[in-house]
Amino acid sequence: MPDRGSRLLRACRRQAADATPVWFMRQAGRYMAEYRTVRAAHSLLEICKTPALAAEITITAAQRLGVDAAIIFADLLLPVEPMGMRLRFQQGQGPLLDSPLRDEAAVARLASGPAVAAELGYVAEAIRLVEQHFGGRLPVIGFAGAPFTLASYMIEGGSSRHFVGVKTLMCRLPQVWAHLMEKICGVLEPYLLAQVDAGAAAIQLFDSWVGCLSVDDYVESVLPYSERLVRAVEQRGVPVIHFGADTASLLPAMQQAGAAVLGVDWRIPLDEAWAKVEHVPAIQGNLDPAALLAPLPALRRRVEAVLKRAGGRPGHIFNTGHGILPETPVENVIAAVEIVHEFGINHG
Ligand code: CP3
Repeated sequence: MPDRGSRLLRACRRQAADATPVWFMRQAGRYMAEYRTVRAAHSLLEICKTPALAAEITITAAQRLGVDAAIIFADLLLPVEPMGMRLRFQQGQGPLLDSPLRDEAAVARLASGPAVAAELGYVAEAIRLVEQHFGGRLPVIGFAGAPFTLASYMIEGGSSRHFVGVKTLMCRLPQVWAHLMEKICGVLEPYLLAQVDAGAAAIQLFDSWVGCLSVDDYVESVLPYSERLVRAVEQRGVPVIHFGADTASLLPAMQQAGAAVLGVDWRIPLDEAWAKVEHVPAIQGNLDPAALLAPLPALRRRVEAVLKRAGGRPGHIFNTGHGILPETPVENVIAAVEIVHEFGINHG
């Protein structure tokens, strides 16, 4: 009897489950026709700010795929708006923030605190709707960007390749950097706790771009802030999935933030990543999202290769190493879910 309600949480706690839990980053996105239909009528920000729409997209994607968790439909950049920055998503260009932060005065002007987080109440409301819909049969994952990744967008004004602006601020103006991280945490902490109060069973902290840092810079300038958020959430008994891309060298340092689960991308073999943290936390990953474009036999081989590297240890959550690509056939994602679940039964 499949038990989708508890697989994810059992794995987060490193307990054995009836099958390996599986969900995907960007499981609700442009590759899915149902999403494109809603998107044709509404902008991304409109969807995020309308709990009924965000909940519908979240629920539809999770049900269509047969995954073991529903990640709430929202965006990592939403908190910048109530903090005082203008956010736009332009077709084909990704996100754009007006007047990126460059100096002390700009950081000083940013708003922070619980009242700012309360302006993001629509995300908690969407979580509440999804949680009511599933009634405990499927866990809802809440999320936020980790302080470094959110700061990188606020400083660069959009996506970046070398993160020159961020690194410049971090090393030239360390006190301004610390002030910015404090302000971000002052919003993200109450924002995440509101998601927990609304029924999120787990929280993923996306530190998507942290892999650009040296270990020393990470430990000095980023770890204390990520750790603060992880601890605030886990004190409520809710596990955190701490994800970053290209983090092979950072994993032991990231583990110090104390999350129950570390999320890794495909650049490092899953068993190597897990060994680097001595199998203490649970691990999430790490199929290359491009593998979902492959014909079924090649896809099966790649999915099973990831599962074999988990070695039957309790505490593996199957996911892609980053978001599903827009070109992905939805049937392949459904097939991957089936392969993961069957593997659990055949090898359990
Ligand atoms: O299904 C889910 O995973 C939940 C929804 C979700 C979105 N964004 C919706 C979205 C999640 C978890 C995010 C997180 C997010 N947003 C991250 C962290 C994850 C990662 O990819 O590292 C980041 C960096 C962002 C910022 C962001 N939002 C970018 C860079 C872009 C443009 C890139 C692109 O794929 O076009 C977005 C837009 C966005 N957010 C889309 C979706 C489904 C696609 C665009 C659209 O519908 O117009």
